[in-house]
Amino acid sequence: MKTLSAVLGMTAAAAMSLSSLPASAQTYPDRTITMVVPFSAGGPTDTVARLVAESMSKDLGQQIVVENVGGAGGTLGAGRVAQADPDGYTILLHHIGMATSATLYRKLAYDTLNAFEYVGLVTDVPMTIVARKDFEPTDLKGLVDYVKANKDTVTVANAGIGAASHLCGMLFMSAIETPLTTVPYKGTGPAMTDLLGGQVDIMCDQTTNTTKQIQGGTIKAYAVTSPERLAVLPDVPTAVEGGLDGFQVGIWHGVYAPKGTPSEATERLSKSLQVALQDPNVVARFAELGTVPSPAADATPAALKAKLEGEIARWKPVIEAAGQYAD
Ligand code: MLT
Repeated sequence: MKTLSAVLGMTAAAAMSLSSLPASAQTYPDRTITMVVPFSAGGPTDTVARLVAESMSKDLGQQIVVENVGGAGGTLGAGRVAQADPDGYTILLHHIGMATSATLYRKLAYDTLNAFEYVGLVTDVPMTIVARKDFEPTDLKGLVDYVKANKDTVTVANAGIGAASHLCGMLFMSAIETPLTTVPYKGTGPAMTDLLGGQVDIMCDQTTNTTKQIQGGTIKAYAVTSPERLAVLPDVPTAVEGGLDGFQVGIWHGVYAPKGTPSEATERLSKSLQVALQDPNVVARFAELGTVPSPAADATPAALKAKLEGEIARWKPVIEAAGQYAD
C-alpha cells in the first residue's frame, strides 16, 4: 500500500507536470470549437461531421460548431483551416480529397503534408453510381452502353475537382474509356437536388448521401463501390459484379487541425473522437447510411498521418496518368 508521503510526492509531481502545461492546455477546451466542412451543408461530409461533432461536444463539454466552406473541390475549406490560429479551436473534417488534391492542384494554397496536425480517422464510406430516376438504363452494363452511345449529351454531377464524386467519376470515365460532360457543384448536397429534379443525369456519390434516396426510389442505383454488397442496399450489386473489374473505392475521412496546434489539444480531440466513434447513436446512424466508424485505434494522429501519406503516394501516379489537373 502506498505510503502517504509517496501519494503526496506523486500528487506534487502530478501538480508539477500539470502546472508545466500552459494554462490553456490544462483547461482545453474552454470555449466553442469550429469544425470546418469543405463542402455544402446537407451533403455526405456534412452529415458525417455533424454526427461526430455532436457526440464529441458531449465528451469535451464544449460545443463543436460545423461551418461549411465549400468550393474548389474542398481545397477552399482546407485552406481556411491551414491559415487558422493553431489554438485548438478550429479543426477540419475532410476526406480522400485531401490526398487527391495534393496532386490535382499544382498551385495549392497550402502544403498538404506540412500545413496540418492530425487528430484521427473517422470512417471509410462506400460510393454508389446513381442516376435520375427516369434515366433509361436498368443495370450497370446498360448504363455503360448508354453513356458510350450518348457521350456528347450525358452529364455527370460532382462536387468539384478534388471531391470524392470527382475522383469516382474520373475512375468511372477512365474504366469505360469515355469522357463525359461534368457539372460541378460546391457539394453533392446541391448536386443531389438537381439529380432529383432531373437537371443532371448521373453521379457517383457516397452512401451517406444516397442511401435514403435509393431506398425511397427517388433516384436509380446501378452499383456500390464496396467489395461486398451493403446490408442497407441489398439489391444494389457491386461495381465488380456489374462488370467493372477492380472498380472499388472507399472515401476515408479524417479530422485535422492547423500546424502548430498543441499536442494536448489534438490528443484530447483524438480521445474524444474515439469516444464518439463508439457512441451507439453514431454507430447506428452510420449503419443506416451504409458505413461504419473507423476502429478507435485508427482515431489517432499517427494513423491519420500514415493514411494521408500513403494515399497521396497511391493517387499521384493515377492522377498524373489521367493528366487531369485543376490548374
Ligand atoms: C460533399 O460532402 O458534398 C461531398 O463529400 C462531396 C464530394 O466529395 O463528392
